[in-house]
Amino acid sequence: MATTHTVGIIMNGVTGRMGTNQHLKRSVADIRDQGGVKVGDDTIMPDPVLVGRNPQKLEALAAETGVENWTTDLDRVLADDRYSVYADFQTTDRRVAAVKQAVAAGKHIYCEKPTALNTADALELHRIAESAGVKHGVVQDKLWLPGIVKLKRLIDQRFFGRILSVRGEFGYWVFTGEDAEQPAQRPSWNYRAEDGGGIIFDMLCHWRYVLDNTFGKVRSVSCVAAVLLPDRLDENHEHYEATAEDAAYATFEIDGDILAHFNSSWCVRARRDDLLTIQVDGTDGSAVAGLRGCLAQSLADTPRPVWNPDVAQPIDYYADWTPVDADDQFENAFKIQWELFLRHVVLDEPFRWGLLEGAKGVQLAELGIQSWKNRAWKQVVDLEV
Ligand SMILES: NC(=O)c1ccc[n+]([C@@H]2O[C@H](COP(=O)([O-])OP(=O)(O)OC[C@H]3O[C@@H](n4cnc5c(N)ncnc54)[C@H](O)[C@@H]3O)[C@@H](O)[C@H]2O)c1
Repeated sequence: MATTHTVGIIMNGVTGRMGTNQHLKRSVADIRDQGGVKVGDDTIMPDPVLVGRNPQKLEALAAETGVENWTTDLDRVLADDRYSVYADFQTTDRRVAAVKQAVAAGKHIYCEKPTALNTADALELHRIAESAGVKHGVVQDKLWLPGIVKLKRLIDQRFFGRILSVRGEFGYWVFTGEDAEQPAQRPSWNYRAEDGGGIIFDMLCHWRYVLDNTFGKVRSVSCVAAVLLPDRLDENHEHYEATAEDAAYATFEIDGDILAHFNSSWCVRARRDDLLTIQVDGTDGSAVAGLRGCLAQSLADTPRPVWNPDVAQPIDYYADWTPVDADDQFENAFKIQWELFLRHVVLDEPFRWGLLEGAKGVQLAELGIQSWKNRAWKQVVDLEV
């Protein structure tokens, strides 16, 4: 007989950018709208309760997404057995305390990255979740981006021969708020170090799992960063001092003698295929992955340029690249990971993107900051659990 497994999910911080767009609308609400996660004849159905501080916002968001339950009383829902999962998309500085409270209440944990603002705290979350016997997952959405999935396929097919280097270019112009026509598009806490902001913590967490899972383990990091725009306007149109770095240039040594370099900046204008591009160069071919697409150039298709600034460039360097699996359809990356986590909770299927993986991201970010401040390479040691 077909069974429906209802999974009650406390969604905290759901009124924020990530909570609303990626976790509620494009994941949990979408899974509900599609009739749940089908497992043979059975169905896993998420049953969320939206949690936050502002009743008006919660009520409106619940109505918009067809969700029945919302509350401003976190303690009450943590004490409610109908909810077995606590999901956290609050600002980073609130994560550790909230996750600890939820583990103490016996909830499984699913949360955004960074899981903490230092490695010790991030590891502690892993330890307490393990010793409480609850399941846990940390967002590693980039692993399910179509562009990166396609890149991984090329690696698995040995398309590149020997991989020589990896270059990531991430960024776009984030408006300062000064221009009335163009309000700031990231919350102001992102630019305040004292509030857990900064592009190193934001992005090196991602680069850790992308590199570890796609190319090889990250062994060391050298990072330099800058506060390029120290004055921005906040949500109330008031000036504040941006104390956190808004650009970071990091080089990583990874297993297999591969060098990876990632530029991450909120102060650049994009003139490339996508907001994130990762170029991989190998002896037999190269590829450039964006968020969705991936273009490859084999050795046979590689043009032979001649350096001559005296004539117009005869080669179109954007030609001679072949789209990889252009017709394949992909689900939203956050939704894919949510479905895997729900299957882990209900069916006990393996799920390897937990709080220890989250702690590795925090570790790389912390080392990136230290490298910048001390102008030194930092070794990435295996975390002791
Ligand atoms: N996976 C990704 O690609 C990705 C991208 C951006 C941000 N993030 C992470 O997601 C998290 C949220 O980022 P965001 O951009 O959605 O931020 P946001 O500022 O839009 O949302 C933060 C949420 O936390 C809540 N909150 C803040 N202060 C609070 C307080 N004092 N009490 C109760 N609730 C409070 C807000 O109400 C809001 O719901 C951050 O940890 C960030 O690093 C992840």
